[in-house]
Amino acid sequence: MQVISRPLTRSSKNLARAALSTWANVPAGPPDPILGLTVAFKADKDPRKISVGVGAYRDDHGKPYVLSSVKKAESLVASTNPDKEYLDITGLPEFNKNVALLAYGADCSPLKAGTIAVTQTLSGTGALRVGGAFMQRFFPTGKVIYLPSPSWGNHTPIFRDSGLEVRQYRYFDKKTAGLDFAGLKEDIQNAPAGAIVLLHACAHNPTGVDPTPAQWKEISDLVKEKKLFPFFDMAYQGFASGNTTKDAFAVRYFVEQGHQVALCQSFAKNMGLYGERVGAFSLVTADPEEKARVESQLKIIIRPMYSNPPLHGARIVNAILSDKGLYKEWESEIEVMANRIINMRDRLYDLLTSTHNTPGEWGHIKSQIGMFSFTGLTPSQTKALVEKAHIYMTADGRISMAGLNSGNIDYFAESVSKAVRGNL
Ligand SMILES: Cc1ncc(COP(=O)(O)O)c(C=O)c1O
Repeated sequence: MQVISRPLTRSSKNLARAALSTWANVPAGPPDPILGLTVAFKADKDPRKISVGVGAYRDDHGKPYVLSSVKKAESLVASTNPDKEYLDITGLPEFNKNVALLAYGADCSPLKAGTIAVTQTLSGTGALRVGGAFMQRFFPTGKVIYLPSPSWGNHTPIFRDSGLEVRQYRYFDKKTAGLDFAGLKEDIQNAPAGAIVLLHACAHNPTGVDPTPAQWKEISDLVKEKKLFPFFDMAYQGFASGNTTKDAFAVRYFVEQGHQVALCQSFAKNMGLYGERVGAFSLVTADPEEKARVESQLKIIIRPMYSNPPLHGARIVNAILSDKGLYKEWESEIEVMANRIINMRDRLYDLLTSTHNTPGEWGHIKSQIGMFSFTGLTPSQTKALVEKAHIYMTADGRISMAGLNSGNIDYFAESVSKAVRGNL
């Protein structure tokens, strides 16, 4: 047989190169469902475009907002001309002290007794990941974690990658667009003793539905009775109600009831420090000696992950939390952000109902809490909104209320109303 040697075309060259590459068999993964929306939004040239996909606060002009307290804290930090040395593995000690006080409150007995182990982390995600690794390594009664259904999309991969088995408990009732409290209780009741239960401390993402204080009390009793372990994710302290104390109710109540909670904190949303990656992970322990042992193991988990956390954001948070004036200013800024979102909820409800007479029940737009609303829009309606109206949102119908403002809410409501009627 005659072998004909032909010049390599561009695609055959690529194929040949691919066959030689070490990574030839790496399959392309799907884009992140939320972060992928930002890419598409940025590329869209239509002036009417709206992004309600990503959970980052925007002001009434649709612009990212750097808090005035944060700017002042940055100047204060810069004025001390600090060095850039490495932090400890567990971060800035004063930061750890102050963030625990913010979450647990000055009256918290374990805090007063010095028995809460705290480590600075790479924002809330890092707190969850370090916490997940700690549970995988040391939680004595099994490796099962129950997440609410639905939950923040990153919870499942975080805990799965931590080596835990992820299961779900019912949370959202599609019929009422509210809490499926009976389902939640039944699923928690049926969880095997010794399992971990993830609880969103406030402003549940993605649904915007939180238990009432009375329901939290029932959940606490049930968790205790079933010998489950409460693992709190508090990514929005202050963002739900505009008040950091009110939003810490669930965590503080559980600790008061004697639960040894785990807690993840983030300063991405409530201080607008998204890209600075500032957060904390903490565990309530029995006594100072146990706390020291737990801390020594947290260090052993963190050291091979990233050695030690970044300085800048922790210094900002610490400056705000340790200065009375800045703290007061920060609290009033959280209130302004939370109230802007609450106003958008009221306005959207009025537009969908009174102005556009949109078919369906829309009360949940007003009753849901925090940055997100689970609108009840179907995947085909959200697809139409993205493709025909340039309104970017996830297929589950979740919207970030922070993406709405006085300049775009009329167009948004009109488009949603048309999408629901099927005539977009
Ligand atoms: C429920 C929940 N937990 C944790 C996080 C973590 O955020 P970050 O890592 O930016 O602090 C988020 C962010 O959206 C969230 O919604």
